[in-house]
Amino acid sequence: MDILIIGSGGREYSIGMALKKDEKVGKLYFSTGNGATDTLGENIDITDANLLADFCEEKNIGLTIVGPEAPLVAGVVDIFKERGLVIFGPSASASRLEGSKSFMKNFLASYHIPTAKFIETTSIEDAYKFINTLEAPIVVKADGLCAGKGVIIAQSHDEAKIAVADMLSGNSFGDAGRRVVVEEFLDGYELSVFAICDGKDYIVLPAAQDHKRLLSGDIGPNTGGMGAYAPTPLINDELYKKIDERVVIPTLEGMAKEGHPFSGVLFMGIMVVKGEPIVLEYNVRFGDPECEEIMPLLKSSAFELFYRSATGTLKDIQIEFYDKFAVGVVLASKDYPYKNSIPAEIIIDDIVHDDINSNAHISFAGVSRGEDGKLYATGGRVMVCVGLGTSIKEARDRAYMMVGQVHFAGKQCRNDIAYQALS
Ligand code: AMP
Ligand code: GLY
Repeated sequence: MDILIIGSGGREYSIGMALKKDEKVGKLYFSTGNGATDTLGENIDITDANLLADFCEEKNIGLTIVGPEAPLVAGVVDIFKERGLVIFGPSASASRLEGSKSFMKNFLASYHIPTAKFIETTSIEDAYKFINTLEAPIVVKADGLCAGKGVIIAQSHDEAKIAVADMLSGNSFGDAGRRVVVEEFLDGYELSVFAICDGKDYIVLPAAQDHKRLLSGDIGPNTGGMGAYAPTPLINDELYKKIDERVVIPTLEGMAKEGHPFSGVLFMGIMVVKGEPIVLEYNVRFGDPECEEIMPLLKSSAFELFYRSATGTLKDIQIEFYDKFAVGVVLASKDYPYKNSIPAEIIIDDIVHDDINSNAHISFAGVSRGEDGKLYATGGRVMVCVGLGTSIKEARDRAYMMVGQVHFAGKQCRNDIAYQALS
């Protein structure tokens, strides 16, 4: 079966790599892909959802997988389903779990799913009043999608009020900030937990931990994620059970009851506070770079998992994972996350060491292919170097050996990915 993957990051690259392991999978198409996805399939220069549906009909594509949130929130799944096409991902109404923080927070409150105490409002007075009831730090979030930048952790009441005023006036995030969520700060450790859902049934994947800050030691600005690893030992069976009972099941039941059954990837950003899971946020797609570590851990067919989710047939599916760990280190361009950088040629050493050859790989993201056929780093997160091993340490060592084989001007990465698991 031929498959279309929507997206152009390392996440979509890693999904492509995983799909290709199943011989049932034929040709892959990427909309619009990146300078390296052309080694896995064909990049197509179409982004409009209706035109993509035309393309799938014309090419007889049997499954479409949506990587990023923006097309989901814009309703690509609804358009494809109306035309009888099979697509993996949630509808626009279900995607509001990510697309609108106020929808998400009200949903969590209605279904008694544990989350930080909050107010969602368009009123500056109400926001200020609520801020006065909290202790600093205080978290202020723009309601709409802000490419991961709409969250401010204010260190004082004044800073929180300024953030609210800037958002509500439209100054900081445009219309996405005209409604805000203000919430209490949760002090704990964060996990990324993913459930593949089909509206009723679900499979929880091995939990990952992301590293959101730019610099080693968890300092510097927030990013989309500078590295991740899975499975994390910071979760045990008891915590999985609590997440299942208190989060996954009520979320799927609640969404079905509200008339927005959830299918696709439910990404739960969980803060563990004194052993209790609290939902920070939902996303309606795989995390990036978490996907790049989880995909290579899948022993069963990724194709089957996605196809059965898309067709509502997950019940009784048996999914196996390798008894291994994966660590992914992001290599970002020089000016990430502030601005795009000048394209820089990527040189990858010939890998002669068998151990690295068979236990590490690269998921390419912000790269383009020059007219000279060479790969260039074109900005943002350029790639993820992924190592696999029977321990986190072994996987991490392999990932960093791979990092050492890659060169481009301005390359930046953290040197402490997975530190929480190793300390
Ligand atoms: P979000 O987009 O809601 O995931 O927020 C981005 C990041 O901000 C999260 O991954 C957390 O690191 C942090 N964050 C968000 N909400 C809170 C909170 N209530 N308490 C502490 N940290 C938070
Ligand atoms: N790595 C976190 C995210 O994709 O939002």
